[in-house]
Amino acid sequence: MAGSAQHAQWSSRWAFIMAAVGSAVGLGNIWKFPYEAGEGGGGAFVILYLLFVLVIGVPCLVAELSLGRRGQKSPVMTMKSIAEEEGRSKLWGLLGWSGIIGAFIIISFYSLVGGWVLAYMVKAASGFAGLDAAASTETFLTFIADPVKPIIAHFCFMAITVGIVARGVQGGLEKAVTVLMPALFVILLLLVVYSGVTGEFTQALAFLFEPNFHALTGDKILNALGLSFFSLSLAMGSIMTYGSYLPKDVNIPKSAITIAAADSAVALMAGLAIFPIVFAYGLNPGGGGGLVFMTLPIAFGQMPLGIVVGTLFFALLAVAAITSSISLLEPGVSYIEERTGMDRKKVTAIIGLLAFLLGTLSSFGQPGNLLGDVHFFGGMSIMDVKDYLTNNIIMPVGAMFMMIFVGWFVSRKAMMDELAIEDRSFRIWYFLVRFICPVAIFAVFANIIYDTIIAPMMAG
Ligand code: TRP
Repeated sequence: MAGSAQHAQWSSRWAFIMAAVGSAVGLGNIWKFPYEAGEGGGGAFVILYLLFVLVIGVPCLVAELSLGRRGQKSPVMTMKSIAEEEGRSKLWGLLGWSGIIGAFIIISFYSLVGGWVLAYMVKAASGFAGLDAAASTETFLTFIADPVKPIIAHFCFMAITVGIVARGVQGGLEKAVTVLMPALFVILLLLVVYSGVTGEFTQALAFLFEPNFHALTGDKILNALGLSFFSLSLAMGSIMTYGSYLPKDVNIPKSAITIAAADSAVALMAGLAIFPIVFAYGLNPGGGGGLVFMTLPIAFGQMPLGIVVGTLFFALLAVAAITSSISLLEPGVSYIEERTGMDRKKVTAIIGLLAFLLGTLSSFGQPGNLLGDVHFFGGMSIMDVKDYLTNNIIMPVGAMFMMIFVGWFVSRKAMMDELAIEDRSFRIWYFLVRFICPVAIFAVFANIIYDTIIAPMMAG
């Protein structure tokens, strides 16, 4: 019953695609992408982001899915067993660990933001009428400074995630994503059409697609790469675990392209839903992380049908976040289940509870909250530390070693078998995985370390 003998499997290619797109499409696309594009100078950032997705993201996605399917286990055991098969050190299992731990850290604060989204969905349903910029900012800051309310919301979000994951791959994940993802697309389309008709659509198009390369400084380039990884759910065991449930007859490269295309399309559509409204109401597109929580509610409060549009918007975010958080919980659950043979429901509840507890620290660390004055390394909050550790360290380092493993330590033949594509495509992919991806990721990582550690040290 514990699933150790028979590894779970998606019931169809469609179910897998919905699950993987569900994992990829999340707060990264609808919350982070628009505001980072806004801060990064619009079009230039968008073009670079898409380029990273295509040249680095897709090959990594293919590699991670292939490892998962070949290993047929949780990330730790998958890495170990493939390494063993190839006569390599078992230490490669550490890559599985870094994924599981990274995913655990991410879900702890992802669920908190997911809770904010749930709370805002409720607020939106009663309307934001009469909210000016000052009041909107005040509402959000008061909410995140509250020691109790965000925690309750965070708990609700985690409970939903646990409820889905506990029911298993086919009974839980698959059922949820095959309903939620089509719903997400419909809501998003409605919002884009509404924005397009009532908002400043051409201005939004220009903002998103007219390149302004001057705004694209070094750290914005890093943001674009980091976001492309985060958005595709790479290097944290999510994709590897989902790959392990993949039937042998599903074509991995084709699926990877579909997933990346859907993921990018949602990010762009989110921009096209948000910015026409932002411009129509004369709001600031560069509002940073507060864009959806502080800026948009002002517009929802003034527009015709604002209650409906606002509620739909936060429902969209909630759905996107839930189908991603289940993929962040799954790697740890699959590992513990595999190792201990414990009941899946129990394992899920325990890991969910632990992640919830770790997440409460991120809430208490918000400005004005209980631990709001606790700062690390020159001003980072607890949430910033977790974000930095996962996004800037675990993810790039993990991804780089994963590419090195696939490109240099696994036999070419094993990968050819797994991918089953024509020779020329294989050669392009293999070249990207062996040379371009590790070097590009290393360059980005070195830059992060230089900017945040070495340069400040040298400056005194
Ligand atoms: N990709 C999701 C988003 O865009 C978040 C996510 C889910 C994730 N699983 C992941 C990020 C694994 C990194 C690694 O919001």
